[in-house]
Formats: sequence, C-alpha cells, structure tokens
Amino acid sequence: MIKPILLAASCALALISAPLRAEPIVIKFSHVVADDTPKGKGALMFKRLVEERLGGEVKVEVYPNSTLYGDADELQALLDDKVQMLAPSLAKFEKYTKQVQVFDLPFLFDDLDAVNRFQQRSKGRQLLRSMEDHNITGLAYWHNGMKQLSATRALQLPSDATGLAFRIQPSAVLEAQFGQLGAQTQKLPFSQMFGALRDGMVQGAENPWSNLYSQNAHTVQPYITETNHGVVDYMLIANKRFWYGIPHRTRVELESIIDEVTYMVNQEAEALNQADRERIRQAGTSQIISLTYEQRQAWREAMRPVWEQFEPIIGADIIHAAQTVNRKHRQAN
Ligand code: LMR
Repeated sequence: MIKPILLAASCALALISAPLRAEPIVIKFSHVVADDTPKGKGALMFKRLVEERLGGEVKVEVYPNSTLYGDADELQALLDDKVQMLAPSLAKFEKYTKQVQVFDLPFLFDDLDAVNRFQQRSKGRQLLRSMEDHNITGLAYWHNGMKQLSATRALQLPSDATGLAFRIQPSAVLEAQFGQLGAQTQKLPFSQMFGALRDGMVQGAENPWSNLYSQNAHTVQPYITETNHGVVDYMLIANKRFWYGIPHRTRVELESIIDEVTYMVNQEAEALNQADRERIRQAGTSQIISLTYEQRQAWREAMRPVWEQFEPIIGADIIHAAQTVNRKHRQAN
C-alpha cells in the first residue's frame, strides 16, 4: 500500500519542482541583411519552425535589415542580453577572436564547398567555441557566398584598384587586402554601404551577389568583377549564459531546428547568389567582368602577402587546415 502513496508524492514533487513558465522564452534575432538573402531566409525559417514545434514555450522575433541593431551595436546588444541570437559575418568578430579572421584571407578557399569542408572539420568546428570566454557561443556556420568586387572603374588587374576607396567590413585583414592594391578603405556598417557608394564616399565594395543586389549596389556601381576572391559567411551565435539557461529539453529541440535551418541555408545559398547575379546582369546597370586565368592569378599574387602578415595572429595551424581542404579537393579531381 505504501508504493501508491510514494508514487503520488513523487509526482506531486515533480510538478512543484518543474519550472512553471507563465511567459514564453523570447528570442530576439537581429540581423543586417534583407529577408530575401540566405541569412534572411534562415532567420525566418528558424522563427517558423520554432513556432510550429515549440509554440507557446519559445517566441522568436526577427529584426532584419538593421531595423533593431546594426553592425555598430549588435554584438554589444547580445552581450547585454538585449538580443539573444545574431548571425554576423565572420569578418566582424576580430574584437573577440583573431582566429576567425582566417575566413577573410583572400583567395584562401577555392569555392563555397571548400569553405564548407573546412567548417565541418575539427579546426573549423573549434572556431565556433573561440569566443566562449566572452559569453558568445557559436551555434552553426551559415553560408552566403563568394565575394565579387564592384567599382566605378573596370577592375581587370590589381593596379586598376589603385587609388580607389572601398567600403569594407570591420576587419584588419580586409583593410590589408586592399592596402596590397594601393587602395584606401572605409570600415562602414552594411546599412551604409549603398549610401556611401551613391554619394561617392567610396568608389567600390566587395560582397556576394545576393548582398550587392539586395542593397541595390549594382545601380550605383557600373562595373562588377567576378573575382570570387573571398567569402561572406556567418556564425549563428547566442548569448552563452542565455542559451545554456534554456531548459535542456527545449534547448535540444532548438538545436535540432538549427541543424535543419543550417542545412537549408547552406543548400540554397549558392543558387540564391547565382539568381541575383542573373538579376544584376538583366538589370543592365553594371557590366559584369569575367577574369582570365592569368588575370585572376595576378589578383591572387597581389593579395597573397596578407597571408604571411596575419599567420602569426590567426595561427599557422588554422591556415594550414584551411588550405588542405582545397588541396585534397584538387588531388581528388
Ligand atoms: C557586410 O557587412 O558586407 C556583410 O557582412 C553583411 C552581411 O551580414 O551579409
């Protein structure tokens, strides 16, 4: 007879101890790009799946296009728990980790597949944890695409960029990259890229096709050279204290949703960029310049000193691990 009483008591205890949430957990997800981009679509898919599978327990609010926070203040807002998730470009973390700058090295990765292979390997995964001491936890890598060079001048050889000013992300590597060309740089928030190009504050920029198109950069840049000289990819991050404060069962479900969203974003990113390349071509406001093999090699050689310059800062082991994903890929072909 004792057993039923013990069972009843343990159930009552479990009910009392379970955290009774009157209010849902709110995840504010802020980012700086348009909805119809790889990151924008990923944020909206995350919101949709969370509402479908954790509705009532977790509420996701998406703030696109720098409408809540922008480049200048989004990371501090995360640390202050004013937003709970971001997906900044990998070029925007140098204040918290120098290792992630590996993604900014020009001509390091042959293509997005090589970037993907590096991100899946141990060194790449290790970088997701490189900011944990700053209360930032990396949840996933999301792709956008390879960067192209837009300008007011036709850029076929590195010397064509000399004397121009380019808008860049807040990255010492990107500043050095353009310095190798004798070009100036302006570190500006993404939300100011179009205005700076339109008003002549800068004469050029670098971004994947989807960012150039969605910000209308092609309407104020008569030339876009298809260099594929680097990558804009993202790290999906959360405030670490917030993330690990979510009840385990709920967090496991959120992480499963993130895996599903990451797969979609990374599967669709290249197609989205190629579709926006075609939209730019059809708009006819920019001439798309293709490079010969020799011309592209000239850009690679001109920018190459940046690798040696940043090897002591990034780490030779990380650069070597990134290089191997290309080499094995080439050997395989
Ligand atoms: C940029 O600032 O150029 C990009 O990183 C914006 C973005 O998040 O894609």
